[in-house]
Amino acid sequence: MKKITKDIYWVGTEDRETKLFENMFELPFGVMYHAYFVDDEKTAVIDCVKDMTEDAFLSAVQAGLKGRDLDYIVLNHMEPDHSSAVLSLVERYPNARILCSAKAVAMLKNFYGIEKNVEVVKEGDTLSLGNNTLTWVMVPMVHWPESMMTYAVEQKVLFSTDAFGGFGIFESIFADEVTNEHRQSETVRYFANIVGKVSAIIDKTLARVLGLNLPIDVICPSHGLIWRGEGVAIILNEYIDLSQHRTKPKVTIAYSTMYGNNEESAKFLYETLRKENVEVTLYNLSETEKSFVVADIWQSQVVLLGAPAYYGGIHPKMRELLMKLEEGALINHTVGVFGNAAWSGGGVRGIESFLKENKIEMLSDSVEVMGWPTKEDQAALAKLAQSAVKALKQ
Ligand code: FEO
Repeated sequence: MKKITKDIYWVGTEDRETKLFENMFELPFGVMYHAYFVDDEKTAVIDCVKDMTEDAFLSAVQAGLKGRDLDYIVLNHMEPDHSSAVLSLVERYPNARILCSAKAVAMLKNFYGIEKNVEVVKEGDTLSLGNNTLTWVMVPMVHWPESMMTYAVEQKVLFSTDAFGGFGIFESIFADEVTNEHRQSETVRYFANIVGKVSAIIDKTLARVLGLNLPIDVICPSHGLIWRGEGVAIILNEYIDLSQHRTKPKVTIAYSTMYGNNEESAKFLYETLRKENVEVTLYNLSETEKSFVVADIWQSQVVLLGAPAYYGGIHPKMRELLMKLEEGALINHTVGVFGNAAWSGGGVRGIESFLKENKIEMLSDSVEVMGWPTKEDQAALAKLAQSAVKALKQ
């Protein structure tokens, strides 16, 4: 148990074992599941954890209760990384009343067979625990339809569910005590890959939540770090930038390659841009898991996508990336295309069709190389690189 403010404690867990978040996205720095305990005349747990880590959570709750019964379990979100420990919690404290949104009721039944002691809370409802009052803000699709935030009125703490979260386990649960270089990139990677698809909803919801003018001293999300003091404005601004697709003057090159020909083009583009003093990152899609690439693309003004043809279409590693980018990562971006034709072409044509269908601004000078890039191909690639530089807005 770690104290956050008067009466409110962290009872969350660290997960260094899960290799793939949602069985898709690598977790090189682990992930935290945050849960909170309110120590008042009536006791409450806000959010749970993933069941594989529940021992530490249950021990912390038990320590907080000091022999008392648990009165309330607040479930802001039903994705199992935050709800699956509820089964063991209910087993230990069968009298606890479970407070959740209307949409969560069926999920509780369907996921865990829990129907007893379930009570629906609505926006603006209040609950007094003694010295602390809880109230709720409904935030559907941040990240699932049943998502809600809980607000502790007297302590000015917002339990923000998946909003403001991030991947990673750091030296502290408090953002102001963390110096780790991965803090920000793991926040962006979480946003772009986990909730990026609903970025427009997040943008509107953030405006609505901020419009309620709730004074916020502490933000307690369900992943990532806890933000307090000046950190509240930092994470709010980071999330507003991400949800409004505000990009930075940099280029991300992502490519697939089978035998190195397309890689040669990608490296030529990369070196040309570096000579122009452009901030540029190069990703081989067979070597870097796509969530890292998507995160970098989310913030890059210009993106260069390159793929060989594959049976007249796009090489599968690039197809996989495009499926993820379709969720909104290219809104507000300019994209250039390059590729390798093999015998039929199709990689460049396929990426261009994807960009047109998704109404993404495209550079006009795509390059399709037949095999190893010749001097003429290099000249065409240099022209594409120059177009990318011009497209950067300083
Ligand atoms: Fe971390 Fe949407 O749950």
